[in-house]
Amino acid sequence: MAVIELKNVKKVYGKGNAQVEALKNINFKADKGEVVLIMGPSGAGKSTFLTIAGSLQKPTSGEVLINGEDISDFSAKKRNELRLNRIGFVLQAYNLVPFLPVEEQFTLVDKVKKQNNLSRDELNDLLKQLGITDLVKKYPSELSGGQQQRVAIARALYANPEILLADEPTASLDTKNVEEVGQLFKDLAKKRDKAVMLVTHDPRLEKYADHIYEMMDGQMTQKK
Ligand SMILES: Nc1ncnc2c1ncn2[C@@H]1O[C@H](COP(=O)(O)OP(=O)(O)O)[C@@H](O)[C@H]1O
Ligand SMILES: [Mg+2]
Repeated sequence: MAVIELKNVKKVYGKGNAQVEALKNINFKADKGEVVLIMGPSGAGKSTFLTIAGSLQKPTSGEVLINGEDISDFSAKKRNELRLNRIGFVLQAYNLVPFLPVEEQFTLVDKVKKQNNLSRDELNDLLKQLGITDLVKKYPSELSGGQQQRVAIARALYANPEILLADEPTASLDTKNVEEVGQLFKDLAKKRDKAVMLVTHDPRLEKYADHIYEMMDGQMTQKK
């Protein structure tokens, strides 16, 4: 069974003349163990798609299924729980807390979600795998873009989600960092059995993808 599936999803923003049909009729599936890229120009609907797939907002119509369960009508409380327990987000601005050093970005997660986070040893392994072990005492402002990105990925994974969603994860990274982050996403899918969905317009990520979708004017076409 697909870990995440969208059926006939539409999203309309605004009312009357100001209406924007951001998603027209989206049908999409992703499985564990796979990296899926969603590509397309600015304004195509990529972020809208990702936030609906991740239950940050509801579709105007259609179904969103997580492990076969329709979440489109979940209450705010149930959607919060779902996000907390099953879905990891890496958002465009990384969303690190500026006044906390790296190590406390993780203890913050413990305060919000008390169970099933990575153990101390698992976190240390993850930090090592990401090459950020030496950065734990530093503040976000002391890190490069690539380092912040890796800390944001580590924080999303710390809560041990089945699904990892990232919006433009390589924006502002140089090619070396793109290769590292791309390989990392691939390893997460293959070695940790996550479903990884990346919204990007960075062609340097294509070689890490199992599937590629192109989004244009609210419609999605599978390319690979
Ligand atoms: N909160 C919103 N209110 C109104 N229109 C929005 C909102 N978010 C996005 N849009 C519009 O929906 C379309 C798709 O936007 P978005 O999903 O952000 O695309 P992308 O991430 O591909 O750049 C655009 O026309 C955008 O202006
Ligand atoms: Mg966007």
